[in-house]
Amino acid sequence: MKYDKAYFQVSADYIKSRLGGFEPELGLILGTGLGGLAAQIEDPVEIPYKDIPNFLVSTAPGHSGKFIFGTLMGKKMMCMSGRFHFYEGYEYQQLVAPVRVMKLMGVKRLILTNAAGAVNESYRPGDVMIIKDHIKMTGASPMCGPNADDFGPRFFDVSDMYSKDMRAVARECAARSELNVHEGVYFFFTGPQYETPAEIRAARILGGDAVGMSTVTEALTAAHCGIPVLGLSMISNMAAGIWDVKLSEEDVIEIAQKSGPKFSLLVADIIRSL
Ligand code: HPA
Repeated sequence: MKYDKAYFQVSADYIKSRLGGFEPELGLILGTGLGGLAAQIEDPVEIPYKDIPNFLVSTAPGHSGKFIFGTLMGKKMMCMSGRFHFYEGYEYQQLVAPVRVMKLMGVKRLILTNAAGAVNESYRPGDVMIIKDHIKMTGASPMCGPNADDFGPRFFDVSDMYSKDMRAVARECAARSELNVHEGVYFFFTGPQYETPAEIRAARILGGDAVGMSTVTEALTAAHCGIPVLGLSMISNMAAGIWDVKLSEEDVIEIAQKSGPKFSLLVADIIRSL
């Protein structure tokens, strides 16, 4: 059994050797164009993924590929600047790495952020969606293969994966933010191509409100090992076929970065309030 506790303990031991006793409590994974918050972490210790044994190397553009440890709004953070996606060519089973290493580092709660396309036609670019639940129709799961019993059971419940308590805190913070905030369902597609208009219509009929290529593997891995998750999507575009415009990575990054400062304020307020 490869991706078990012994395997990732090697990664965690290396990280611990560089942290001098710092024990993170809150995990944060920053999505496309949303890296600004990382700069606010106090007394940061940065560890590039490529230095960490038994870990993965990030290839996505706009994802710089390092852990940042330090304090933010009084919370001890383990932040990922740069994440891993199925479309980069990893096996689903490899995508357990970040959250299992967080678990071994002692992380108790996890915030996942991403840029996403709006499927719900009442949403607008620049809005934020608190993820209430997700839909993943692609079959495979990061927990396929021999079960890592030391992280969690073979079959596990995911009906409260996006923690009710953390969503309640996020709603309170949203109410005092300048952003237009919704609560909705994240529909996962593997990418790397954006979706077809027909896929977006199908996602809407099935109950999706926003669409994206990340987050669900991390949320599932967290659910397996008992870490409550809060997921936040920055709406960077209307999904394919809703408006008569072509989707481009540049536009997605541009809108995410433009809305980034307000989004970061919201996330910082949530971190403070947790
Ligand atoms: N589709 C998938 N992923 C995305 C999108 C989208 O429209 N926008 C940002 N990430």
